[in-house]
Amino acid sequence: MSLFSAVPIIVVVPQLLRANAAGQPATVSSLIGATISYVLFLQQFLHIYSIIYNFIQQAALTAPSFQSLRMMLTPEPGKFAQIALAKAGSPAAGLSPVLSIKFDGVSMHFNGRGIFEGLEFSIPGGKLSAIVGQSGSGKTTIFNLLLRLLDPTGGRILINDRLLEQIDEKQLKKLMGLIPQDPFIFNCSLRENLLMASADGFDDTLLDRAVDLAQLREFVESREGGLDFIAGHMGRNLSAGEKQRLALARLIVQDPEIIICDEYTANIDVKTAGLIHEVMRNEFSGRTRIIITHQLYTIKGADHIVVLDKGTIAQAGTHEELFAQRGVYKDLWELQKLT
Ligand SMILES: Nc1ncnc2c1ncn2[C@@H]1O[C@H](COP(=O)(O)OP(=O)(O)OP(=O)(O)O)[C@@H](O)[C@H]1O
Ligand SMILES: [Mg+2]
Repeated sequence: MSLFSAVPIIVVVPQLLRANAAGQPATVSSLIGATISYVLFLQQFLHIYSIIYNFIQQAALTAPSFQSLRMMLTPEPGKFAQIALAKAGSPAAGLSPVLSIKFDGVSMHFNGRGIFEGLEFSIPGGKLSAIVGQSGSGKTTIFNLLLRLLDPTGGRILINDRLLEQIDEKQLKKLMGLIPQDPFIFNCSLRENLLMASADGFDDTLLDRAVDLAQLREFVESREGGLDFIAGHMGRNLSAGEKQRLALARLIVQDPEIIICDEYTANIDVKTAGLIHEVMRNEFSGRTRIIITHQLYTIKGADHIVVLDKGTIAQAGTHEELFAQRGVYKDLWELQKLT
């Protein structure tokens, strides 16, 4: 019996029983009343049902963003991460402040389809590295593996010889910061968006510095309420470049040990992209930084470049070393010159 066919019985039968108990036949008016109750109930039910359905649909669509967000927004800035790491007995205790990354025979399969098989490469600690490769070569999969949004189907990922999976999730969140293609901006004030990455007892001078470094000052001062200006749902009151600069300021507040950027230049203007590069080079100098990109000119000066091709590491080295070789890297450059 469906809910809809059950409801008339639930609503109308008590009316009849009440009337019967009182020794009177059910009147037309009591039945009309019961029918109106049913129609009103149905209306309410359909309304609530549509709200729940829409919510589930939205949640399913944004689930990856929520997960990325969990990683991006840490309760404490990275500079406190060392204190956390030093805590006796913590799985990451004793990690050196300079964090290197190693993919040790990593395999990744999606529904039986292999993306990588025994992938081997290292990202040096405290340096600016880049991962390049053609579309579909597995760059974002590496990003997701590092953030533990995915777990490898084989092999190990190590951070300073410590298994990534053994590092406490809370500590990992403190260590890793990211600049994704579409930063997640909350529907609250600019200040709250920035402070989400801050520790208790956060001091305003760091917030000011982050706003200045991310070149948000002019934007903030031109908006009603300044830092109390509301960003809107998914940051709709900000342009793509402003959202990316807000995410950059949040990263400066977070101050993580490892920074991973995946195609962050895709939606923004050249000026904002240049600014992010500058902050990555100067402000985060000495941190382990990984830039995943298609735009090869942006990573020419990287300390280390890893070239992915069809699920394998085709080459690794500096721009000069790779360019001197006849290989995938040089081919990618030639291709970009033509486009
Ligand atoms: N969750 C998933 N389920 C099934 N296949 C997936 C999943 N995620 C990625 N893939 C597949 O894995 C391969 C690598 O995808 P990935 O997103 O890592 O590539 P990419 O190098 O980042 O590409 P692009 O440069 O276009 O962003 C692709 O063939 C993709 O279709
Ligand atoms: Mg990608």
